[in-house]
Amino acid sequence: MFEECWRLPGSKGLVPDISIAAVYRVEPGSVPGDERLEVKYGRENNPTVLVLERVLNCMEEARHGLAFNTGMSAIATLLHVARSRGARLTLSRLVYGTTYELARRLYSEIPEKLRIAGPPWDELLSLVDRSDMVLVETIGNPTLRVPPIDVLARECSSHDCTLVVDNTFASPAGYRPIPGGASVVVESLTKYIGGHNDLLGGYIGVDNDSLHEELWNWRKMLGTIIQPLEAYLAYRGARTLEQRFNRVSETAARIAETLSGRSDLKVLYPCLPDSPDYENARRLLKGGCGGVLSLDLGSGERAIRFLKSLRVARTAPSLGSVDTLASHPYTSSHRWVPESEKERLGITPGLVRISVGLEDVEVLLKDITGALEKASH
Ligand SMILES: Cc1ncc(COP(=O)(O)O)c(C=O)c1O
Repeated sequence: MFEECWRLPGSKGLVPDISIAAVYRVEPGSVPGDERLEVKYGRENNPTVLVLERVLNCMEEARHGLAFNTGMSAIATLLHVARSRGARLTLSRLVYGTTYELARRLYSEIPEKLRIAGPPWDELLSLVDRSDMVLVETIGNPTLRVPPIDVLARECSSHDCTLVVDNTFASPAGYRPIPGGASVVVESLTKYIGGHNDLLGGYIGVDNDSLHEELWNWRKMLGTIIQPLEAYLAYRGARTLEQRFNRVSETAARIAETLSGRSDLKVLYPCLPDSPDYENARRLLKGGCGGVLSLDLGSGERAIRFLKSLRVARTAPSLGSVDTLASHPYTSSHRWVPESEKERLGITPGLVRISVGLEDVEVLLKDITGALEKASH
């Protein structure tokens, strides 16, 4: 699917060089052309970073793209632009908690311009005509809800609103927001694209030239560019993304289907027919529903006993890697969310999130069913 993205124009090497220099020579008196393409100082540009950006732009079908040193610094740079323009910003209730907290603090002096809505998705759709920017995630954590991004994109384009899609849980192997009608795509490279728990990084892809220029300038001023070694590791992860994503999507779907027959838990996975967003997932996630599923085990005690009984899966607060990782959102990622909001979103004490890795599916099923057995006593 991404074969055409790996060509490296002008390079004899089969892989990009890691250009570690912080500073590059410049000709005295030379007049800068397009600064966004010039390499002279590492906080502005770097040859390895430029290769990564070209590869990611190709994978996302975005005209322009910028790589950042974390997913959060990509989002922070983007929300900085939104705040500096005084944009009316609407977020889905299921955006990553740190994204919400950042928006709340950035907008603390203009709180009336920040709104949070949906699911239900109609609530979010009804605010598009009063928004300049709408930010959703392709698959919202931890209940794995999928918004109707195509419908939102149409609404946004008829109201001159910028639709931003954080595509971290789907990755470009699962879904590509830009050809799907969004204006901006965001990825945490730390997750599926990096894929090996050994780098932090972020990416923003855009089609709009002036937004790209503004983001490039803010990245330079905030100093949020990715470092060369991480850029290379993200490039290397991208090379196997499709194969890894296909594999984890198959494994997660198989585990979700197998466990959905049990009466002692509830399985949340967008590709299960009883998911509230099954139709959105079928329409949008052509590359698979990804490797993350959640289980509601009914009580906090059972959830903790389950997590402690896992032997193959490891308990760690991340996703999208070669290793299966499990977490307890109620006491970790979502511990600061008010109780009433957690209840409304279905983030119960019994909820556990599992991000499957590349292990054999039978080994993982045995690990999970064994831990469920132990958690019941
Ligand atoms: C959906 C989503 N977006 C953004 C981020 C932030 O990425 P990073 O940890 O690379 O800063 C995360 C991190 O978990 C995430 O889950």
